[in-house]
Amino acid sequence: MNKKHLFNRRQTLLLGLGSIVSMSTLALGSTLKPQQASNHQKRNFAASGNLPLARRAAAKGLIYGAAVRKYALSSDAQLAARFTRECAMLVPEWELKWNFLRPKPNTFNFAPADWLAAFAQTHRMLFRGHTLVWHEPHALPEWFSIVNSQNARQILLEHIATVVGHYAGKIHSWDVVNEAISVKDGRSDGLRETPWLKFLGSDYIELAFRAAAKADPKALLVYNDYGLDYDTPEADAKRTAVLKLLKRLKSRGTPIHALGIQAHLSASETRFNPQKLQKFLSDVASLGLKILISELDVKDKELPVNINIRDRLVAATYEDYLSVVLDEPAVTAVITWGLSDRYTWISEFEARPDSLPVRPLPLDADINRKLAWNAIARAFDQAPKR
Ligand code: G3I
Repeated sequence: MNKKHLFNRRQTLLLGLGSIVSMSTLALGSTLKPQQASNHQKRNFAASGNLPLARRAAAKGLIYGAAVRKYALSSDAQLAARFTRECAMLVPEWELKWNFLRPKPNTFNFAPADWLAAFAQTHRMLFRGHTLVWHEPHALPEWFSIVNSQNARQILLEHIATVVGHYAGKIHSWDVVNEAISVKDGRSDGLRETPWLKFLGSDYIELAFRAAAKADPKALLVYNDYGLDYDTPEADAKRTAVLKLLKRLKSRGTPIHALGIQAHLSASETRFNPQKLQKFLSDVASLGLKILISELDVKDKELPVNINIRDRLVAATYEDYLSVVLDEPAVTAVITWGLSDRYTWISEFEARPDSLPVRPLPLDADINRKLAWNAIARAFDQAPKR
């Protein structure tokens, strides 16, 4: 299929998503009209064969993996079996964050993350690090309150040297800096007001990348952020600010190799503009950077109760998004933020108002493949080879 046809096909898919979603909005608290219900049922999510996601991705020169928590992988044999089958990359969802890794200023606890690294190695999966510099209080230890402008540089550099050094040569990539842009904070450079910015100034990002490169010259060094996906004024501003940051880092010779686009999507969001997203991806690629879809999942908070409808809308969101981003050859990996609905941050942070279990990931809470899995499989099967 040539590019033009592919594009037209995707436009049709996206129009389909728009109508499905507006229909689902109608369906909230009411019932679907028969005509709408039959349109909705028409979309085909059949995936050919039984091959796992990792194999389908690999056939296109892509990596597929997922984030996971050590307690889940070590205690849930069903999850572990599926994880090793579906994934070619493992990302600790919690265990490489400061609150887990550095319980005291001078104490590092690598045991949980090392367990995950060993699991990945045993099962021939790549291991990816998340994250070295993040402001989020949930992910920082209590002692972090001692950090000030006198000691911040030393504490940060020590952290990066110790942690990156620990996995040097054994890790695929590091999210060196996470979520450093927040346009609404009002600065002209778009940087988020964080303790790191306050204590170290705007060069803290470059400092962190240089320290990571020194500790592991082989790892792919990533800037990771969210809110880059949709056609909204906020996302426009964020894409502009992220691009500006990446350009600045590159122009200063900073060792940065990739952008991580988190892609926490929402199945009820219709403001999706493929051309805009593709332009952003190609602008990033033209800086010589790779792109990782680093935390993909699909929220179903505003969708109807009916699981069949919900699963179709979530699947449509996955396939429509991936079919657009995988057209960009610089995209080299797709990582879902979890594998099964049994373990997902969305059940805690983006729960449904009716308290029904959320269904944002490729496998359901019984660890079985669902339509979201088919959608990802289809997108990999249709992706151009890199
Ligand atoms: O620390 C306790 C732990 O001891 C206990 O076993 C567990 C039982 O539920 O709770 C633990 O606290 C959890 C903590 O992660 C672990 O550090 C919190 O409840 C939980 O709210 C917290 O949330 C994580 C959050 O990052 C902060 O680290 C989410 O699970 C995780 O999915 C989320 O991931 C972030 C990415 O890092 C960055 N991008 C956005 C993404 C989603 O918010």
